[in-house]
Amino acid sequence: MSGTGIGWGKLILCGEHAVVYGHPAIAFAVDLSTRVTLTRRPGPTAVAGCPSDARLTAALHEVLEPTGWGVRLDSTLPIGKGMGSSAALAVALVRARAELEGRSLDADQTYAQAMPCERVFHGNPSGLDVAVSARGGCIRFTRGTPPTLQPLTPGRWRVVVLDTGAAGDTAELVAGVAARRPGVEPVLQAIGALVERCCGHLDDARALGPLLTENHRLLGKLGVSTPELDDLVALALDAGALGAKLAGAGGGGVALALVDDTAGADAVLAAAERAGVPALACRPAGVPS
Ligand code: MEV
Repeated sequence: MSGTGIGWGKLILCGEHAVVYGHPAIAFAVDLSTRVTLTRRPGPTAVAGCPSDARLTAALHEVLEPTGWGVRLDSTLPIGKGMGSSAALAVALVRARAELEGRSLDADQTYAQAMPCERVFHGNPSGLDVAVSARGGCIRFTRGTPPTLQPLTPGRWRVVVLDTGAAGDTAELVAGVAARRPGVEPVLQAIGALVERCCGHLDDARALGPLLTENHRLLGKLGVSTPELDDLVALALDAGALGAKLAGAGGGGVALALVDDTAGADAVLAAAERAGVPALACRPAGVPS
């Protein structure tokens, strides 16, 4: 007998880091995911084919007993690149266990049960990644117990994801911003205000783009960008993107470029290929295209 669960990956359109301190953020699910398959079997709980890792083991133990479970992971999500791989794992684990035990979970229950697992990975997560992973679609999120969620309808724009090739450590990056408070408080406030403006322009890529580029500039002031991320943002803007920013915790990982159609995406993809940068085009998953 086995149980299977899936968690979506995500991209943050605007508001990462500030969301940890109660400001709103906008994020959307992407069509990349983690699938967990659970089986009951004797012996220590472990992931098949995966070297033992203290943080992964501790996260598993938030959802599963230390013995009696075999875990199989299949993921199309890059790890540590800002696309919500740990949240997708937490959501998939919770769902797999519920399926195996014949329980149905709504998105709120999934969120509540997956958060302890996400805390093992990230220490002080806002919950944004888990909320998007559990729900899909595009949401405006404000931290809280429970968080405030508003489903959003994005316009017909798409994004190109550009990969620095380096991973960032979300827990370290979030702790770094915490250590720079209260000095960075005005920057966090400005990011929160930018999110409100983005909410008013979600169907207008030409107005939205510059707000995303401004978000990148503010994230640089927070100290979470890198020269590689800045270069990817410049590459995307030079190739005609309407806006570009790092996406996720930063310190490596990915940047996203906003484009309004396939031709725009093709231009950024071609520039990325010329520069030897891995890239892919996507749209918010789980909303009408
Ligand atoms: C990480 O994907 C997003 C951060 O805002 C952290 C969080 O919201 O928990 C950097």
